[in-house]
Amino acid sequence: MKPYIYITRKLPEYVIAPLQKEFEVEMWNQEDAPVPRDTLLSKAEKASALLTMLSDKVDQELLQNAASLKVVANLAVGYDNIDLEAARKNGVTITNTPDVLTETTADLTFALLMATARRIVEADRYIKEGKWKSWSPLLLAGMDIHHKTLGIVGMGSIGEAVARRAKGFNMDVLYHNRSRKPEAEQSVGVRYASFDELLAQSDFVVVLAPLTKETEGMFQEDQFNKMKESAIFINAARGPIVNETALEKALKMGEIAGAGLDVFETEPVNKEHPLLQLNQVVAIPHIGSSSKETRHAMMALCVENIFSVLKGDQPKTAVK
Ligand code: DGY
Repeated sequence: MKPYIYITRKLPEYVIAPLQKEFEVEMWNQEDAPVPRDTLLSKAEKASALLTMLSDKVDQELLQNAASLKVVANLAVGYDNIDLEAARKNGVTITNTPDVLTETTADLTFALLMATARRIVEADRYIKEGKWKSWSPLLLAGMDIHHKTLGIVGMGSIGEAVARRAKGFNMDVLYHNRSRKPEAEQSVGVRYASFDELLAQSDFVVVLAPLTKETEGMFQEDQFNKMKESAIFINAARGPIVNETALEKALKMGEIAGAGLDVFETEPVNKEHPLLQLNQVVAIPHIGSSSKETRHAMMALCVENIFSVLKGDQPKTAVK
């Protein structure tokens, strides 16, 4: 019997064609909706490999009932949806998709920063709603980006790629990270700062840290209080790093000036979400790595990793 692979979202046929030549492959039949939990659990019971999305919980319950499972290839660089300890205990290799999405995610992060600072979404709405009656001196005046201070929280490869973009805008770049990055300090020209120092000095605070026990809830009322009143907060990492009630309060009280959000505490959000009611918030639906080229590269990497593990080789990008 051929090993069975379950893919938790409908992907283009040509992506999975190579797998179909050698394995039995089944795919959840929808592109826009996640596989129901009970379906995932029952498919996992007979699967040798799963290709999962960040919206699928791969936890102890799933892993302990998946006797044949050898690999879970997660279509994301983040893997906070996966219980790594349980995977280790059950002998399941976890892979992710680093590197291939770095520049694309940095592009989006910088675009979000620029859109928030220069009020691009408000301006688009304004003109399309027929409100543009004349040029006026302070019409939709935003905030400068060039020569400002950018504070990056979480200096992985995406953080570095954002820092390189910022340097092109003559920005002063601070970063805060678990460990110092002497190489990035040298090659990109960024400066390490304590978390408090970064919050106090930055005009833009950009979160790019992974979601871990240490980063969960890292931004509370206190942290927003420490930021400049003119500061813009960008989260392109994971929603639960930020207490959204505290962020909403900080925006409403004018403790910070704006926010650009690609991620939310609980996704998806509906249009009644309190942060979506604020003009100074630019919100986008977790599309950091979503260019056609990059999403295809991520899918191809997942397929390659599954092949490697099922053939007994080392996968290219195993999570350690
Ligand atoms: C990731 O890869 O972790 C991103 O959040 C997906 O866009």
